[in-house]
Amino acid sequence: MSSSNPLRDPRDRRLPRIAGPSGLVIFGVTGDLSRKKLMPAIYDLANRGLLPPGFSLVGFARRDWENEDFAQVVHDAVKEHARTPFREEVWQQLAEGFRFVPGVFDDDDAFVKLRSTIEELDKARGTGGNFAFYLSVPPKFFPSVVQQLKKHGLSHGQGDSWRRAVIEKPFGHDLKSAQDLNQVVHEVFRPSDVFRIDHYLGKETVQNILALRFANTMFEPIWNRSYVDHVQITMAEDIGIGGRAGYYDGIGAARDVIQNHLLQLLALTAMEEPASFDASSLVTEKLKALRAVKLPKELGKHTVRAQYAPGWQGGEEVHGYLEEEGIDPHSKTDTYAAIKLEIDNRRWAGVPFYLRTGKRLGRRVTEIAVVFQRAPHSPFDATDTQELGQNALVIRVQPDEGVTIRFGSKVPGTSMEIRDVTMDFQYGESFTESSPEAYERLLLDVLLGEANLFPRHEEVEQSWRILDPIEEYWDQHGRPEQYTSGTWGPKAADEMLARDGRSWRRP
Ligand code: BG6
Repeated sequence: MSSSNPLRDPRDRRLPRIAGPSGLVIFGVTGDLSRKKLMPAIYDLANRGLLPPGFSLVGFARRDWENEDFAQVVHDAVKEHARTPFREEVWQQLAEGFRFVPGVFDDDDAFVKLRSTIEELDKARGTGGNFAFYLSVPPKFFPSVVQQLKKHGLSHGQGDSWRRAVIEKPFGHDLKSAQDLNQVVHEVFRPSDVFRIDHYLGKETVQNILALRFANTMFEPIWNRSYVDHVQITMAEDIGIGGRAGYYDGIGAARDVIQNHLLQLLALTAMEEPASFDASSLVTEKLKALRAVKLPKELGKHTVRAQYAPGWQGGEEVHGYLEEEGIDPHSKTDTYAAIKLEIDNRRWAGVPFYLRTGKRLGRRVTEIAVVFQRAPHSPFDATDTQELGQNALVIRVQPDEGVTIRFGSKVPGTSMEIRDVTMDFQYGESFTESSPEAYERLLLDVLLGEANLFPRHEEVEQSWRILDPIEEYWDQHGRPEQYTSGTWGPKAADEMLARDGRSWRRP
């Protein structure tokens, strides 16, 4: 064991990591994401003392706003959505660094103004020329924004200063468009300066998959085809598409969350131990897992997509997808998707990974369930174990973050009856610290230049390689089935698992 005082070690990961002099420019600052997630996260970081004193925020959008109008918008967003309490002195200091640049993306004058704003902030606030550009805009605008940044000398810093690009999903619509987007961005920014946000990777419980697997000895020996029967990854939402028709229609559940969040969960669950926790070691292992993913031959039998029909949710009657405002009444877009994947390597050969997601399902829950094989032999009578399911280890990503282990236990009494019980670890009970929001963690990492929680372009492209044939198949084969809102999805999804002699968990 090292004799040095760990508190003195600058690499000690337990020390608060505080960003150095820097600023953030948000394109598309009037959007929902910016108001609900980015602005509150910036305030929460400032409130936790993790931003430099001169931190600066520049909003860029097509609005006739002065700096004060922008500050008011951020103020309202923070009041409504921030996680930590509002403190006037924190707010005042932060708000002094707010600037607004009105303009559209092909307007040279606006980018000239952006450049002079950044130079002014460097002088007035000591941002040191270090700026991240957050593209919270639809991908069709990426080319013009990054080209303008290049043209106006904003994409590269002087001397030691840095410039980074932060990109929000969707990273394309399929493999080809993702490759095109990556090329456009990489023509201007070095790959190591591009941070693709997959906010699931910023969630505590998702990072805990790595801790659980690689900081312990008891799970890894059974984390393979010799013991695991199958894995179920579920991301269920109770909400509908809300006001996001424009984004969602034509995209659908699989592109919206399987391509990114669920395949990242799969990669973290399936990958080998990385050589270290740095970005390139993690990417290497995640990529190997994604590259080994194989689609089943008969996509009609092993994939299901569906749309929510009217129903009841939380005591309220809700519309079906086709009746939602802004949705084409003939739309074939999936709001539910379930797929079976296999991972062709020595650890996982023959172990199916079932992924499912949907809107307007029974309740909001995201979990990874590793379901183990039954005991090869049982000395008990079949009637004793009639109610015994399979052992399972369930990582609950949200809500009620934690880990549950399900195993059989004797029912108290004179007979030898065995039933399932659970052993539960709940974050809320074991730790007093509350989890930061994913965007807090990720924005801080961008400012610190730490890339381990950001998917690289190869991962994005691998994910499309997996999804493209499924989307093509769905395109060519009829319409999605309907499922009643508030239920656990279409019958076909149950049948899909039943054919394999399995069933979905009811979380
Ligand atoms: C986003 C999807 O990436 O994740 C949304 O575009 C979805 O459709 C959201 O609702 C869910 O995020 P969370 O953190 O609430 O699980």
